[in-house]
Amino acid sequence: MKVGLLQFKPEFGDVDANIEKVQKLLHNKNFDLLVLPELPNSGYLFSSIDELNKLAEEIPNGKFCNALVKICKEINGYIVSGICERSKGSFYNSAVLVSPAGEIKIYRKLQLFSEEKLWFKPGNLPLETHEIKGTFGNVKIGMMVCFDWIFPEITRTLALNGAQIICHPSNLVMQYCQTAMFTRALENHVFTITANRIGKDINGGKELAFTGKSVIVDPKGNYIYRGSDDKEECFIVDIDPSKALDKHVTKLNNVLEDRREEFYFN
Ligand code: ACM
Repeated sequence: MKVGLLQFKPEFGDVDANIEKVQKLLHNKNFDLLVLPELPNSGYLFSSIDELNKLAEEIPNGKFCNALVKICKEINGYIVSGICERSKGSFYNSAVLVSPAGEIKIYRKLQLFSEEKLWFKPGNLPLETHEIKGTFGNVKIGMMVCFDWIFPEITRTLALNGAQIICHPSNLVMQYCQTAMFTRALENHVFTITANRIGKDINGGKELAFTGKSVIVDPKGNYIYRGSDDKEECFIVDIDPSKALDKHVTKLNNVLEDRREEFYFN
């Protein structure tokens, strides 16, 4: 199965430019599943609700999602992408799974980071997994967005729900996550794909830099890919997703079955 990620710099506030950039960077690419960063339609550093309202889109019929549907149809692959979402007058920092048939599933970031709390509502949808299908077989994927990584309950819940690949659109500003994804992958025996953005947003007298270094990790914690900190890059690799079905660390240890849940949450 060919999976990968697109690391790039969205232009803050310019949805059309961001669509054009994604189209250009994915031209002639061939993948079964590709992950894009967080908020690639809008950019990240908002300064007012008015601005957010202009940049956010309804799912499924917004400009950015429509462009993703077209790409997925042409390539016959799935895309997981962040989306700045507007729904019933509220805003969510969301991710979408887009299928080659144009179907869209939504996840809304559960754990908002820093000033995101000023703009977005926390997610209100369950941590579902989704089966994707193709010549590669049937594979279950889960979605989480950026800062969700620091809450191990999220990857664990997705793994317990059968996720073999965790798709992780990100706008990381710190450096911890890229190193920590080793643990998230290993402790759940899943593949993780963290697609981070690069560059800076400058807006409303503020500036924020993003750390790039997108990573793909396998179920044994091996780094399949470590991106640069400053280049736009699309990386695609062949993986065997069935490796995420075996949860054994040793013959006698299984990361899911050995859990002692009765001791954890009381
Ligand atoms: C983040 O959650 N965008 C750091």
